[in-house]
Amino acid sequence: MEKLIIKGGRRLAGEIRVSGAKNSALPILASSLLSQGPLRIGNLPHLHDITTTMELLGQMGLTLTVGDNLEVEVDSATISQFLAPYELVKTMRASILVLGPLLARFGKAEVSLPGGCAIGTRPVDMHLQALAAMGAKIEVEGGYIRATASGLKGADIVFDAVTVTGTENLLMAACLADGVTTLTNAAKEPEVVDLANCLRSMGAIISGEGTNVIQIQGVKSLKGTSYNILPDRIETGTYLTAVAMTGGRVKLKDTRPDLLGAVLTKLEEAGAVVSTGDDWIELEMDPADLKAVNIQTGPYPRFPTDMQAQFTALNCIAGGTGAIQESVFENRFMHVQELRRMGADVRVEGNIVFTSGVEKLTGAPLMATDLRASASLVLAGLVGCGETIVDRIYHIDRGYETIEEKLTNLGADIRRVPR
Ligand code: UD1
Repeated sequence: MEKLIIKGGRRLAGEIRVSGAKNSALPILASSLLSQGPLRIGNLPHLHDITTTMELLGQMGLTLTVGDNLEVEVDSATISQFLAPYELVKTMRASILVLGPLLARFGKAEVSLPGGCAIGTRPVDMHLQALAAMGAKIEVEGGYIRATASGLKGADIVFDAVTVTGTENLLMAACLADGVTTLTNAAKEPEVVDLANCLRSMGAIISGEGTNVIQIQGVKSLKGTSYNILPDRIETGTYLTAVAMTGGRVKLKDTRPDLLGAVLTKLEEAGAVVSTGDDWIELEMDPADLKAVNIQTGPYPRFPTDMQAQFTALNCIAGGTGAIQESVFENRFMHVQELRRMGADVRVEGNIVFTSGVEKLTGAPLMATDLRASASLVLAGLVGCGETIVDRIYHIDRGYETIEEKLTNLGADIRRVPR
């Protein structure tokens, strides 16, 4: 297993390019199951989760052609299996995204239950209830969801709570259903909007995406198209937080500041000077100005849970005390223990992580536990005195494209080593 070795204490400066959004790319890859012609996807990030999804589609018999320049073409004409096996689903919960499209187009699907995961139980009950409301017959047996449908029917679905992949699964399923589907209390995340835009370019009839009520008029078939993935707002936020912690001045290109409202507000509150253009964000920071911030995570457009761990790391070295309430997941504090090993004054009470800023963190050997927790450890390593070794970095590779290269370009001392 590879590790990252970081020598902390350098200011970051320069420019980097933001990659395509992982959380858009995953449902959009799954949407290739819906179209009768090939779907060409551009600005695909080079990530482990993307490779896993491509492997999953490949195992189902789809033809994938990887082109130059972050492009892949997926053709579902050659599909021969309707199964997402445990071996792949256990490494990536988002595999559940094939369920809706498989049922809608082929009337059958067998998908392993994702099971527990490091950040809470994360069930898929809302996905299943909603698909059942559209007429699917669903059995859960031997750890697998076995679902069949002889034509899904449009339905009025009210989600009990906001679920991002649940909304995406149902959005995809409803495109080929008979009649109109209304999704109420739908997720408003930009990645849901990106998926809706891609589906519309395939011929789907959708309105209301980006609000909490999405309406879909089912059509008989969808066609192939070309679509470019939107930039990754969490990758963007992670690098901005890194600079806010180390100090310096960095410009992120090919991103979308309009998708980061809550994050940019908190960075400014923490003392950063942020300027933006249509597709770039520049952040300048004097570390002496860094102040702790109070945050409550929530569904978009509120502060993203996927940025909670990074801001926890920031609060650990900021002036004053901070409180970050995690309102989306029940147990997303795996990084706290590790940050404490670097000398942070941080504790969890209920779903709130309290910090009291310390002058310095000390480099230490650390264990990556989940994707965003791992990113927070890298950020802490960038400001830690001495050497930080982050082990099990396969978690980071699931969601950050060549993190060490991008940080090296900004002047960080970070390298990847084999175990
Ligand atoms: C997606 C994102 C993830 C992000 C999360 C919240 C992808 C691939 N992943 O995950 O990066 O952290 O949104 O913004 O886009 N829940 C249920 N029953 C369900 C579904 C969800 O109880 O059927 C609960 C979950 O346990 C969690 C909450 O609802 O507490 C939100 O989860 P959800 O929005 O579904 O997260 P994901 O779509 O898995």
